[in-house]
Formats: sequence, structure tokens, C-alpha cells
Amino acid sequence: MTNPDPNLLTAATEVRLNAYAPYSKFRVGAAVRSVSGRIYAGCNVENVAYPEGTCAEAGAIAAMVAAGETRIADVLVIADSPDPVPPCGGCRQKIAEFAGPEAMVTLCTTDGVVRSMMVADMLPGSFSADHMTRA
Ligand code: THU
Repeated sequence: MTNPDPNLLTAATEVRLNAYAPYSKFRVGAAVRSVSGRIYAGCNVENVAYPEGTCAEAGAIAAMVAAGETRIADVLVIADSPDPVPPCGGCRQKIAEFAGPEAMVTLCTTDGVVRSMMVADMLPGSFSADHMTRA
């Protein structure tokens, strides 16, 4: 178990408290650090029309892009789960859009369990722009 970056952990922990999750009651916080070193945070925002809800990772990525940045250095996600929560499939693809294969994704529980993996391991065989062109 590696120690999570304290600044990413604090950002994700704090923003998680603002999650809007009246339906699942499962609050998630995410923090991404861009290559500039700035940290952007996001939480899940649910909707009574369930598919309209958005994940914490999506919120953090949107904040980064809104600030004018498009490269992720590392990501941390935290939730009150028995096991560190893996990002959903859609969020894996969203992270891969902005992160290199060696960027680290750290998954945390609120009681201190930590699991880290590289983007390449989180989303092996991912779809990329290369798949849309023939050399
Ligand atoms: N959720 C996230 O925000 N990120 C994840 O990585 C997993 C799931 C949210 C979506 C929904 O609001 C709630 O957790 C239950 O699925």
C-alpha cells in the first residue's frame, strides 16, 4: 500500500463532502493534478433521471479543461467503500483522454485503504485516435 499524495488526497476528500448523491447515497470525490501542478477537484452529481448523473472524475476533468489545461499527471479517487472504488468504464476512457499510459491513478477508501495503478493497467487495449486512421 503506497501513501497517497497528501494534496490530492485532501482535495478529493474535501470535495467528496459536496457530492450530490441523494439516490445512491454513495459520495465520491476525485482530484486530478495537471502537468502544470494545479489540482482540480470534482464530485459526483446525481439526477432524478438517473443516467443524467455525472461521476466525480468527470467533474474534476471538466474543471481542469475549463481552466485551460488538458494533460493529467495523476488522479486520485476516494469513496466510503469497503474496497478502493475502481473508476467506471466511462471514467477510465475519460481519464485516458487526458493522461499518458504511465500516469498514476490512486484509489482510496475513506478509512485509508489505497490502491494505485497506471492508466495503461486501468484501461488496457483502450480505444484511441490511432484506431481511426490507416497508416
Ligand atoms: N461514481 C463516481 O462518481 N465515480 C466512480 O468512479 C464510481 C461511481 C458515482 C456515480 C454515482 O453517483 C454513484 O457513484 C453510484 O454509482
